[in-house]
Amino acid sequence: MSSSSEAELLHTFKGIPFTTRSSPELLKSLDTFDAREDDVLLVSYPKSGTHWLAGVITKLYNTQVTITPPIEFGDISRLEELNKLSSKRIIPTHLDYNMLPPNFKNKKCKMIYISRNPKDTAVSMFHYYRDNPNLPTVDSWTAFFDLFLKGNVVCGSWFDHFLSWEEHEDEKNILFLFYEDMKKDLPKVVKEITLFLSLNVSDNDIEDICRKSSFSEMKSDTEKENSDPSHTVCALTSNRRLIFRKGAVGDWKNYFTPKQNIRFQEIFNEKMKLSKM
Ligand code: A3P
Repeated sequence: MSSSSEAELLHTFKGIPFTTRSSPELLKSLDTFDAREDDVLLVSYPKSGTHWLAGVITKLYNTQVTITPPIEFGDISRLEELNKLSSKRIIPTHLDYNMLPPNFKNKKCKMIYISRNPKDTAVSMFHYYRDNPNLPTVDSWTAFFDLFLKGNVVCGSWFDHFLSWEEHEDEKNILFLFYEDMKKDLPKVVKEITLFLSLNVSDNDIEDICRKSSFSEMKSDTEKENSDPSHTVCALTSNRRLIFRKGAVGDWKNYFTPKQNIRFQEIFNEKMKLSKM
C-alpha cells in the first residue's frame, strides 16, 4: 500500500481506519444521532453480503421504506438529511458495536448483523481494494493478506468487528445472519427475517423474492441499470457495479497458500477463542 495514497484516502477515528468519505465531524456527531424506534439497522463488516441482504429486505415491505445511505457516510449535513426522512428508515452501517449511536441501543431498534467466512471476506475485500478508487492501492494478495490480518484495512479488524457484535447476539432486537446460510437456503433465512421484522409475507412471495435476489439477477439488474448504479449501501463507494463480483462460498481456496491458511487459522483460533462461531 503506498503511504501517500493511504494518507489521502484514509483517516483514523477511535483507532479504526475510515475513508475520507466519512468525515471526522460526522463520525464525532454520531453519538448524538437521534434514532427512531422503528429504524432497522443493517450491519456488516464490508464485503459480507450487505447489498444482498438490503436487496431482500426492501422487497419484503409493502409499505414505504427507505434504504438510507450508510450512517457513517458523508459530511455532517447527511445526518440532517436522515432526520428529515419521513418514511421508515432502513439504515446500513459498517460501524463496530461500540461506535454505534447510543440512541439505537437505548431505543432497542431492530438490528440485523450479517457475517461471512472471514477468509472469503478477505478475498472479496482484496478485489474491492483493487477496483475501488476510494481505497488505497494494494500491490498483491500477499500484501493485502497481511493488512487484513493486522486489521490495518478500512473498518479495522474483522475479528474486533465481529466480536463487538457477537457479544450482543442474545439481545432480542439483534438478529445474526450468515452469508453461507443465505447461499444454502435463502427462503429459510428470508422467513427468519420476516419473523424478526414482524412482516407478513406468504411463502409464494418469499420464493419470488428469493428468485429476484439471486446473484445473477442482482448483477444483471445493476448492469441494466434496473437499480440505481450510483447508489450503494456501502460507505466506501457509490458504484454499484463494484459490488457483484463472484458471489461464491469458498473462493478463498483460490487465493490462500497452505502457509497463509495455517497462519490465518492460528490467529482465528486465538482471537475467537471466546466466540461461539
Ligand atoms: P464477492 O466479492 O466474493 O463476489 P457487500 O455487499 O457487503 O459489499 O458484499 C459484497 C459481496 O457479496 C460480493 O462478494 C458480492 O458478489 C456478494 N453478493 C452480492 N449480491 C449477492 C447475491 N445476490 N448472492 C450472493 N452473493 C452476493
